[in-house]
Amino acid sequence: MNKEEELKAIKQECFECKKCELGKTRNNIVFSDGNANAKILLIGEAPGADEDATGTPFVGRAGKLLSKLIDDCGLSRKDDFYICNTVKCRPPENRVPTDQEKKLCENYLLSQIKIVNPKVIVLCGATSAKSFLGDKLKISQIRGQWFKIFDKYDATVIFHPSYLLRNHSETEGSPRGLTKQDLLKIKEFILK
Ligand code: URA
Repeated sequence: MNKEEELKAIKQECFECKKCELGKTRNNIVFSDGNANAKILLIGEAPGADEDATGTPFVGRAGKLLSKLIDDCGLSRKDDFYICNTVKCRPPENRVPTDQEKKLCENYLLSQIKIVNPKVIVLCGATSAKSFLGDKLKISQIRGQWFKIFDKYDATVIFHPSYLLRNHSETEGSPRGLTKQDLLKIKEFILK
């Protein structure tokens, strides 16, 4: 089986999943977007309303901003990224997924990471970063830093685009400016 086929089998399991309450209220499984052979695997928080309606991660306002920032840095969302979330179903009212929901969904995410086997994992936002790096960390302190996860994957942290939607400035040192800087570092890293 190639990567696409392996991922399709995991996605199929998600369609049948009712392990947590989110399975009862979802309209769609939001499994992934992008390229299974990409060097960058980006993990967001959870699907929102637009994602739940379409089955594709990061397609709403935050997603559009993420796509723009990726584009501005000369990367391709479609080719350079495999995009997914800590949970595959939308939490009602866009609340943060609970630890238990993340735990019950974890095996799907771990399978995605193992199959894609990226060169770098981008933890997008606090929920994603805390899932891998521990609850105590502050996103503003760890963004732009590099970590090893599972003793194997290089990982880095960026601000979540929903936060950037509330911060319009793109000047140096602003959250958007820093995110562009972080994405350029990621680009440099995958081209090495
Ligand atoms: N926010 C996320 O974290 N993920 C999505 O897919 C959409 C918005």
